[in-house]
Amino acid sequence: MSTVSLQHPRPAGYTLRVSLLEQCQYDCPYCLPGSVSRYTPNQERLSSSEYARLAPLLLRAGVNRVRLTGGEPLLRTDVPRVVAAFRAGMPGVSLALTTNGQKLRPVIEALREAGLDDITVHVDSLKPERYRDLMGEGDVDDVLDTVVNARGVFNHVKMNMVVQRGKNDDELHDFLAFSARHHIEVRFIELMNTGSAVDYTRSVFFTGKQMVERIGQHTLVTRLPRRNPSDPAALYRTADGVTFGIIASDTEPFCTDCNRLRLTAKGLLRGCLYQSGGAPLGPALKAGATDAELLSMLRVAQSQKRSFHPLMTQAERVPFSMADAGG
Ligand code: 5AD
Repeated sequence: MSTVSLQHPRPAGYTLRVSLLEQCQYDCPYCLPGSVSRYTPNQERLSSSEYARLAPLLLRAGVNRVRLTGGEPLLRTDVPRVVAAFRAGMPGVSLALTTNGQKLRPVIEALREAGLDDITVHVDSLKPERYRDLMGEGDVDDVLDTVVNARGVFNHVKMNMVVQRGKNDDELHDFLAFSARHHIEVRFIELMNTGSAVDYTRSVFFTGKQMVERIGQHTLVTRLPRRNPSDPAALYRTADGVTFGIIASDTEPFCTDCNRLRLTAKGLLRGCLYQSGGAPLGPALKAGATDAELLSMLRVAQSQKRSFHPLMTQAERVPFSMADAGG
């Protein structure tokens, strides 16, 4: 394996993605939570009070956005307490959650009251039967209804769709129509080859460029500047004024502008999705580390942040599941 790796310039602020657990009710063929080798047992996960302890340290280390994810974060029943823990320690910071939306409806108000700003809901098809085929047992109409309800509550509500050739690539226009009708921004995601579902990924791979071309068959598409240089989504607008994003991690890697850090469910701190291992921030906290020690671990991880993205480094892909690393 090549040892070349891209060292990052120090970002102005960091986005931390926190995986609350690896489990998910769905078993999407590209994410495969069912294949995670070992789910983090409850006592090894970080609790809301442990996140409360970390929050002010994260703030001091320059983290200005936190996104809670998984697996499916809302399979944990303490997510409002987790949100409140981050909010208390990081008052001005943007707090977001990525979810499949299945368990969102009953906790919308509690999440908002706890201080959650933004929600992203993952939906791979608007067609009920296809949704079940692609994702698993679930009712897409109920999820969509919840998304529309959430829009009135949170600052931003977005929808993510992983585009798969021959599976849902005929729905791009339907997603844009939904987006226009409900004022919910959609981001079309290129399937990332995580190395753990290689054959599936290869057989359905559909590039960001192909997405733009496909949408361009129906409407004039204009490229817009990214909102922030560190945003993974390239923004576009249709002739009808519908803004959408495309995240093309593999064909157009954005590593040089990446400001993301990741905290796995076990509390390992990583500077890249493709990094294995990581600094044991959570285990150190549980073992009684001082604030100064934890802060120093954060600073070291930041100073060592580099890209392990295979296309940027010519490294081999070390297989991982998004459910493990925090999708
Ligand atoms: N490629 C692209 N996106 C993926 N996600 C999970 N696995 C993959 C993959 N292999 C999605 C999640 C979520 C977002 C954070 O990443 O479903 O929408």
